[in-house]
Amino acid sequence: MLHISQKFKDMCEVNPHLASVVDYGLIILNLGVLAIGSNAFTRQQRKFPEDFMFGTATASYQIEGGWDADGKGENIWDHMTHTNPTVIKDQSNGDIAADSYNNYKRDVEMMRELGLDAYRFSLSWSRILPDGFANRINDAGVQFYNNYINEMLKYGITPMITLYHWDLPQKLQDLGGFLNPLFPEWFEDYSRVVFDLFGDRVKYWITFNEPREVCYQGYDTVTMAPILNATGIGAYLCAKHLVLAHARSYHLYKKEFAGDDGICGITYAMTWTEPLTDSKEDEIATELMRQADWGIYSEPIFSENGGFPKELTDVVNQKSKEQGFSRSRMPEFTKEEIEFMRGAYDFFGINHYTGVLVSGTEYLQEHPVPSMHDDINVGTFAPSDWPAAASSWLKQSPDSLLKILLLIKEKYNNPVMYITENGWSTRLEQGLEDDDRVRYYRAALENVLDALDAGVNLKGYMAWSLMDNFEWMQGYTERFGLYEVDFEDPARTRTPRKSAFIYKEVLRTRVVDHDYEPPSMIMTIDEGK
Ligand code: NOJ
Repeated sequence: MLHISQKFKDMCEVNPHLASVVDYGLIILNLGVLAIGSNAFTRQQRKFPEDFMFGTATASYQIEGGWDADGKGENIWDHMTHTNPTVIKDQSNGDIAADSYNNYKRDVEMMRELGLDAYRFSLSWSRILPDGFANRINDAGVQFYNNYINEMLKYGITPMITLYHWDLPQKLQDLGGFLNPLFPEWFEDYSRVVFDLFGDRVKYWITFNEPREVCYQGYDTVTMAPILNATGIGAYLCAKHLVLAHARSYHLYKKEFAGDDGICGITYAMTWTEPLTDSKEDEIATELMRQADWGIYSEPIFSENGGFPKELTDVVNQKSKEQGFSRSRMPEFTKEEIEFMRGAYDFFGINHYTGVLVSGTEYLQEHPVPSMHDDINVGTFAPSDWPAAASSWLKQSPDSLLKILLLIKEKYNNPVMYITENGWSTRLEQGLEDDDRVRYYRAALENVLDALDAGVNLKGYMAWSLMDNFEWMQGYTERFGLYEVDFEDPARTRTPRKSAFIYKEVLRTRVVDHDYEPPSMIMTIDEGK
């Protein structure tokens, strides 16, 4: 541990982005002290603040079903899974999913069983606006969300809404989707409709979930709808319009809807990246990977200078020239746009799952030319002794959540942060005894306590996920739920896993008790919640 701490201190001197090191070193030392006197009693001294917001998260396409119910329009996942079913591992789709469209009361009952403070979910744009445009509102879709929200509020559960979690109306995709320069206007129009409809009761808003997955995976590769595969062009163009759309939605909300207590942010997929060695090449590679992963979407909003990150822009400009493009594949912003986006946030949302070691010389792979990966040309590696989940990309990397939180604290002047997702996948065969998920959550929650101790401005934590759901290209083969869902059963019965009981106990006691074992697997609602 001390070794890692020293390594970080060294890196900090050459890379100011790693200034978090100082904090990190202290934390590691603290952890060391805890470990020396390690026992459950010592750990139990640390309590989450009473106003720390605990919740779970889901997303519309992954849970709702009702894909064409009551006037809902087609979205890009409906379209892709119906026209191209083999792209999904088990050839499934979200037509019914966990059928939350019909089971919303049970969903809220589960939230009550767990004792949640908050619930993060997303709106299906085409359920509210079937054609994508704001000229035609689908009342039945609006009614569904009103029911969902009101049911939560009835039991004191705070709704946190994501406006966009990957299910773009197909009609907008037909016009280019995020690659159309008018996209920011379409998103603003949609935002106005939903702020107007739900803003009286909903005070926590997230514009976009995981921009990298939207832009890089959806437009630059074939790993997410709309599988456009516009390598080296799609991600950058999408990034420009996505951050502009975020800023439009944010400013609209603050100006016309937020009042004194409404807040609006954006959520990033924050994989922890750390140089494989102390070499200069690995340090540069790590910085480039961070910029391509999330910096391109966060710098325009959170950095002091605004605009796209410099090193990535330089690389893309240079490569574009070498490749014979008459202008850079990295689009530009006007000065007004840069100013408009800079500071357009109330909080930084973090979806965190895993980490990798990054190298500029090792583990390099062939990539299409041009492509974002060819542009940055880095190799990644996850040690084999890190415990592995069911998802190929998901390993438990040591203290990675803490490291991410400290990095963002340093890099962006300690903004308000929410962990908007964190979780672990298992396979159905594993059943309800998900001890590996329990181990993962306990380690993550210890990191949350470490971060709070270190002064990170962290206000809440949402576990992914309340229940099993459609895991995108992996279909139903990977399960992230605290509750198991029986997708063979028309009723889509939900049954709590062991991790549900463990999470509930953390929320009830506000401490992480590593020795706690649920006395039974029978779930009840604690009165008073
Ligand atoms: C992040 C995404 O937001 C969510 O939709 C997905 O299911 C989880 N990661 C797990 O892969």
